[in-house]
Amino acid sequence: MDLIKVVGGNQLNGVIPISGAKNAALPLMIASLLTDEGLTLKNVPNLADVNMLTRILRNHGCDLAVDGKRAGRGPMQLGDTFHLTAREIVDTTAPYDMVSRMRASFWVLGPLLARMGTARVSLPGGCAIGTRPVDLHLNGLKELGADIEIDAGYVVANAPKGGLVGGRVVFPKVSVGATINVLLAAVLAKGETVMENAAREPEVGDLADCLVKMGAKIDGIGTSTLHIQGRDRLDAAIHSVLPDRIETGTFAMIAAATGGDVTLEGTRYDFLANAFDALRQTGVTVEDKGDSIRITRNGGAIEPVSLETQPFPGFPTDLQAQIMALVTRASGTSVIRETIFENRFMHVQELARLGADIHLHSDSATVKGVATLTGAPVMATDLRASVSLVIAGLMAEGETTISRVYHLDRGFERLEEKLTRCGADITRVSPG
Ligand code: UD1
Repeated sequence: MDLIKVVGGNQLNGVIPISGAKNAALPLMIASLLTDEGLTLKNVPNLADVNMLTRILRNHGCDLAVDGKRAGRGPMQLGDTFHLTAREIVDTTAPYDMVSRMRASFWVLGPLLARMGTARVSLPGGCAIGTRPVDLHLNGLKELGADIEIDAGYVVANAPKGGLVGGRVVFPKVSVGATINVLLAAVLAKGETVMENAAREPEVGDLADCLVKMGAKIDGIGTSTLHIQGRDRLDAAIHSVLPDRIETGTFAMIAAATGGDVTLEGTRYDFLANAFDALRQTGVTVEDKGDSIRITRNGGAIEPVSLETQPFPGFPTDLQAQIMALVTRASGTSVIRETIFENRFMHVQELARLGADIHLHSDSATVKGVATLTGAPVMATDLRASVSLVIAGLMAEGETTISRVYHLDRGFERLEEKLTRCGADITRVSPG
């Protein structure tokens, strides 16, 4: 298995192009199941999770053609154009060996049920960052008339005769996945569906925008109340995946951690206003330049922060590990509270191996800044945790080796290349 080797201490200077958002690309690809016409998606990041989902969609009968030449910005070519066509759904079962590898594949449930009237989708199973149940997904689909049973680890869902019917879905808790799953079903249900307390994450909005291009009628995009008028069928569309705000925030934290002057290109400030406020508190200069963001920290100390993760527009849970890595070297004590997932602190013990001083008490971490971190072998535990180890490694003295880097490959397109271009000492080591 590959390792990532990081030698800390280099300042970063340069331009980093931002890829398309993984968390938007996945539901957008799944939306192709809603129509027998083609869906063209541009700016799809080249990631392990995307490749895994293409296998799952093919299993349902979706054809995929990828444009030969990679379209991209500047000298680094990023992003693919996908042409997805699910002319006929040949299989309404999503098997365990596929769904268990990637939780987002559970979102095929809504569109398969809406289009075919039946679906059998494996429960996603346990996950490293908490129990992550699917009750909100299932209750939402029941409001559209679905009959749902659990059979041998599978969700077996059937629509009433004549198909799903619009309903009122009030989520007791904000869930990105449940909002997406129900939205992907409601666009083909009869009549109006109202979703209240829906997730407002930009990736949900991007999916809704694409569905509108496919002929769906959705009001309230970007707000927590969505009104959806179901349609009999959806049409072909062309859509470009929005920039990855988590990748943007991660590189911003890396620039803050190493110091220097880094421009993040082809991304949007407004997706991350809260995280940038937190970064400014740490003593970093953040400039919104329209379609790029400039991050500078020249010599000054890293100041501590106090924050808690929240659904959008709050501080994203997907950046919690990264900001924690940054403030391990702050000039004081930070308090970081995780309110979204109950077990999302696995990076703490790995950061401690580099010398970080972090104490956990229930959902909060108290991070006492230390003067130096020292490189060590560490292990990636999940996608965002693994990149927090890269951040810490880039700040540490000496060499850090990170194992289980397949976690990184799930969500970061050409990470080492993007960082090396700016002066980081980071290499991938393949055995043999
Ligand atoms: C998505 C993102 C993930 C991000 C998360 C929160 C993708 C592929 N993944 O994950 O990167 O960290 O949103 O922004 O886009 N919950 C329930 N019952 C349910 C569903 C969720 O209790 O039926 C709980 C979860 O356990 C969690 C909270 O709701 O505590 C939020 O989860 P959710 O927003 O659904 O996360 P995902 O969609 O899995």
